[in-house]
Amino acid sequence: MRTEAVPGALLEISGLKTHFFTEDGVVKAVDGVDLTVYQNRTICILGESGCGKSIMARSILRIVDAPGRITDGRILYRAADGREIDLATARQGSAQLRQIRGQDIAMIFQEPMTSLGPIQKIGKQIVETILLHRKVSKAEAKEEAIEMLDRVGIPDPRQRFEAYPFELSGGMRQRAMIAMALSCQPRLLIADEPTTALDVTTQAQILDLIAELKEEFAMAVMLITHDLGVVAEVAEDVAVMYMGRVVEEGDVYAIFENPQHPYTRALMASVPRIGVTKSGRLPAIKGMVPHPLARPSGCPFRTRCDSAMPGVCDTSVPDLVPAGDSRTACFLFSDATGNG
Ligand SMILES: Nc1ncnc2c1ncn2[C@@H]1O[C@H](COP(=O)(O)OP(=O)(O)O)[C@@H](O)[C@H]1O
Ligand SMILES: [Mg+2]
Repeated sequence: MRTEAVPGALLEISGLKTHFFTEDGVVKAVDGVDLTVYQNRTICILGESGCGKSIMARSILRIVDAPGRITDGRILYRAADGREIDLATARQGSAQLRQIRGQDIAMIFQEPMTSLGPIQKIGKQIVETILLHRKVSKAEAKEEAIEMLDRVGIPDPRQRFEAYPFELSGGMRQRAMIAMALSCQPRLLIADEPTTALDVTTQAQILDLIAELKEEFAMAVMLITHDLGVVAEVAEDVAVMYMGRVVEEGDVYAIFENPQHPYTRALMASVPRIGVTKSGRLPAIKGMVPHPLARPSGCPFRTRCDSAMPGVCDTSVPDLVPAGDSRTACFLFSDATGNG
């Protein structure tokens, strides 16, 4: 767990655990995540389905549903005025948390209808978001909403302002959701597989749009994806997750060109190099992800790892340590008895 503040860090997650207390047992969806999100940078969270990406993101905004809850760790958010707020322990329903959730940090989902209400016109929803968080008149909010619809590439924004979500195509709905998320000018946009349901062309347009708006609004972006092609396209930083933990974190070049963790290496082995814009799903890695209720002791990846060392990897859980140009949680780079 890190103790000193990292320069330029917007969000410092350390030792985060979010567990689900089900009738069959405890699902450790997030089990000791260490992760830093930097101002004005795009970090991609990469990992197979079920490895805890969404629950980690939802933990940041404190929107994890029962029977899940945060059981340990810190989510240190550095506000615009320099104050540090631990989102992991902020009181649910507090004004502070509501302000951060609605304004500082915005989230978009794979399914736009998760955040767009079905029975209200698009424009009205955006206007209400603006009015909730900013001191502007109704007329000003409307003009801003129309401008934002235009900004995200919705044609005839003045007409579309009056449209209901069901009247728009999937891609347009996705854009409307981004317009709503960005209308409060967040400092961090969390996008959880925002383009997975869209066709490839629309997908590329939406990703370009997010990258463009990131620069324009100087915000940080956390993009969750299992698409390596997307990561190569848009990431500046990358965190690779496996079974509820970050197993490697570093800048995109380190992760693609010089991966250290056996899991990252296996992922990258079959992938086109940066600059080659070929979209690629995660390649198959030998074996299967263990059942969430049958977590291996020690390093959770050891059951699929060619380098697993008996007596080491099955006895303790590795922490992230510097290795190559990144930080990696693997006993190939740290010893099980030290504080590595
Ligand atoms: N409501 C829930 N009850 C029990 N387990 C859950 C619940 N929601 C998610 N999980 C479990 O948490 C783990 C992480 O899920 P998730 O964060 O959605 O994965 P990802 O987004 O990486 O695909 C999975 O094993 C999933 O089954
Ligand atoms: Mg998910």
